[in-house]
Amino acid sequence: MRVGLKIWRYDSSTGDRALKEYEIDAPEEATLLDCLDIVKDRQDGTLAFRKSCRMMICGSCGMRMDGAAVLACKTRMYDIAQSGHVPVVSAMGNLPIVKDLVVDMTPFWSKFRAIGPWLQPGYEQPPDGKEYRISQERMNVIHKESLCINCGCCVSECNAMEADPEFLGPQALAKGMRFVGDPREGKAVERLEDYNSEHGIWDCTRCYFCNERCPKGVDPRDAIAKLGAESIKHGIDRDMGAKHAKWFVTSAKTTGWLRETELVQKTQGIRSAIQQTGFALGLARKGKVPLPVPPHVAKDVPQARALHDIVRSQDRQGALGIVQGERALSRLEHGHGADGAARGPYGEGSFPRPFLPGEDGAPPAGGDQGMGSRTQADVTPGAEPTRKPGGGA
Ligand code: SF4
Ligand code: SF4
Ligand code: FES
Repeated sequence: MRVGLKIWRYDSSTGDRALKEYEIDAPEEATLLDCLDIVKDRQDGTLAFRKSCRMMICGSCGMRMDGAAVLACKTRMYDIAQSGHVPVVSAMGNLPIVKDLVVDMTPFWSKFRAIGPWLQPGYEQPPDGKEYRISQERMNVIHKESLCINCGCCVSECNAMEADPEFLGPQALAKGMRFVGDPREGKAVERLEDYNSEHGIWDCTRCYFCNERCPKGVDPRDAIAKLGAESIKHGIDRDMGAKHAKWFVTSAKTTGWLRETELVQKTQGIRSAIQQTGFALGLARKGKVPLPVPPHVAKDVPQARALHDIVRSQDRQGALGIVQGERALSRLEHGHGADGAARGPYGEGSFPRPFLPGEDGAPPAGGDQGMGSRTQADVTPGAEPTRKPGGGA
């Protein structure tokens, strides 16, 4: 297939920057990384990019395609090439560019080091003298965080980091949660104190771009939410962000609404609230804020209170409450409907099933195009497989 690429080139010795266009012949199964290799081998040996494993494990090949971070070795080019689109490839964001697609990872690793990326066990010997067994329920708390390959794709797209380069950032905080949530960790509370400091967890703007761009499903924003929940569980709530979150809970439980007129006082204190009285009165005159007294109570507030009581009775404080939501999502992802009935992973509402070699529309058996090669739906957008789902795959 013919693949077109526009690549932002940068020469660190001169500061020159230019968008260069390339066109290459590549195999249909080629990834973006394969295409860059071909450009470098056959057209321009000066192109710089990082790679190592070529199989989504080492985290070296993070870069941007059309403005969003991707792992080059995970990004198949077939659909893009077929559509005639020529993507723009550039270096990751929020990190200084060294050359072309290579960024300086020093700030990334500094933050990684700052969170203490090692276990600090709270015991000399495991309980039975041999090993420390961890229940599946406890592992679920840090399962996703353990999948991080330190590629930096989340950091590249982090809004908070763009505004504040000192912000610890999604990767470091996800790694922090990996240790805070480990039952063997002996310094979890000290860690939470650290992560609640300036440039810590409460500086996240909850834009969710890190979840969207992470190629390994770590969901760093969820990890940050777990750290927030764990902090509040341990009484570490000095930050305005923590106070804000607590007021949301109280407000929803008591009235079924978010009582925004009291939010400033509850999160920033009475002094700050008084200082902002003029601004608040201006808003009130324009009908932008309801009067706080008497508070507006939702008609069905008993339902909000009942929900609050159910969560309390389950005793899922801290990260466990957030993991509960993750488990529900993973059940959906793996094809179980709300009624618990199994649903096929392919077919209506799911992925089109890949063809097996020799089936209608499939590439011929043999050669290097087996199960991992492109699907019919890749070839013809919207096309359905001709064989019924259920076998083989
Ligand atoms: S959700 Fe938070 S950590 Fe994630 S990208 Fe947005 S600001 Fe950054
Ligand atoms: S959290 Fe995801 S995107 Fe961020 S460094 Fe780890 S694997 Fe990469
Ligand atoms: S080359 Fe290792 S993750 Fe892409």
